[in-house]
Amino acid sequence: MTDLVTDLVDRPTVGATHGRTTAAAAVGGGVLIAGWGHAVPERRVTNHDLARHLDTSDDWIVERTGIHERRLAGPGESTGPLAIAAARMALDRAAVTPTEVDLVIVATSTPERPLPATAALVAAELGATAGAFDLNAACAGFVYGLASAAALVGQGVARTVLLVGADTMSSIIDPDDRSTAVLFGDGAAACVLVGAGPPEGNGSTEPVRTTGAGAGAPGLVAADLVGDPAGVDLLVVPAGGSGRPASAETVAGHEHFLRMDGREVFRRAVRAVAASVGRTLAQAGCTADDVALFVPHQANARIVDAVLPRIGIPAERTSSTVHRFGNTSAASIPLALAEAADAGTLEPGDLVLLCGFGAGLTVGSALWRWNTPGPAGPNGPAGPIGPVEGAL
Ligand code: UT7
Repeated sequence: MTDLVTDLVDRPTVGATHGRTTAAAAVGGGVLIAGWGHAVPERRVTNHDLARHLDTSDDWIVERTGIHERRLAGPGESTGPLAIAAARMALDRAAVTPTEVDLVIVATSTPERPLPATAALVAAELGATAGAFDLNAACAGFVYGLASAAALVGQGVARTVLLVGADTMSSIIDPDDRSTAVLFGDGAAACVLVGAGPPEGNGSTEPVRTTGAGAGAPGLVAADLVGDPAGVDLLVVPAGGSGRPASAETVAGHEHFLRMDGREVFRRAVRAVAASVGRTLAQAGCTADDVALFVPHQANARIVDAVLPRIGIPAERTSSTVHRFGNTSAASIPLALAEAADAGTLEPGDLVLLCGFGAGLTVGSALWRWNTPGPAGPNGPAGPIGPVEGAL
């Protein structure tokens, strides 16, 4: 028997891993984001850099998108290494060891390889015998992952989940297509989610209210995961899957690159985000005034500008990173959340509203009650978002 098999056979069942949880306890005490981390490639590419080989300009890109620069992956900075670097930072800051992780979820549409799942590569690199799977809900992936992880912890299936949003969009973007090359960037961000267990000193068996502005438990307050099937063809990579496997012909036809009807995605995204946010707040019994921080998908500052008056949240309570990183797909929401959390803008008890949309079209909103004290988790701050020394 190999060491790994021994380890798997000897591994206690999830509920007993940490010696103090049951499904009911995890639900009652909520779910905590115990730590977070991030990693972006070293290479900073400005609009001026792009304008040297594309028929575009800094003025056009800034005016139409709000993007000034993005990070693009170099050698050794693809989805797997970026995810691992972000995961290491999140685990360190949560003071959680890899062996304590029950489940690794990587939200991505640009996996390190077709097989195995990038989550399995992350788990292997960390030395974790956790379950591992990838989740592809495009740019809404992190919100879908957060709702899934919270449900799994709430049901006692897992106690500690490492959730990563990671994408190397430059691997599926045609560098000569100005309509997409100016929009996207590469990056990763991760959260460690831990079942909070029963509140200290509370021996009550009464169910804890998990919805509404007055509810106390940290974690998922409400979520809305929906689709806009009429938009299924608006954002596609035509080849490279089982329907049209990669071949010399598909590569010659640039069918492995992203094709997008940007104007139509824009129009549908504004409506869908506003509607999804409205449903999530209504489900929670909350209003926009209850939201301490709105973290929208960072695709285009103009989309966010159009959404804010519709949902009644001011720009001052909105996290924005699109000017520095562009659209990093599944990484965009957790990067923006990490940046706000690092800046100390979140207090325990605050309600954070996340909303993503992307290819599918997938749309997802989640209202999350923050309960992590301080700006950095148990192990202190990690500094501004940037490349992680020696991790890639
Ligand atoms: O994660 C979800 C992913 N996608 C999105 O969220 C994308 C949503 N859509 C958008 O963000 C915007 O639609 C874009 C930024 C993609 C485009 O902005 P727009 O204001 O909708 O411009 P447009 O597509 O209507 O194009 C206007 C003009 C066109 O020229 P003509 O036909 O008016 O002569 C384009 O060819 O701008 C041209 N154009 C550019 N010009 C300079 C398109 N891309 C560029 C460019 N530089 N990079």
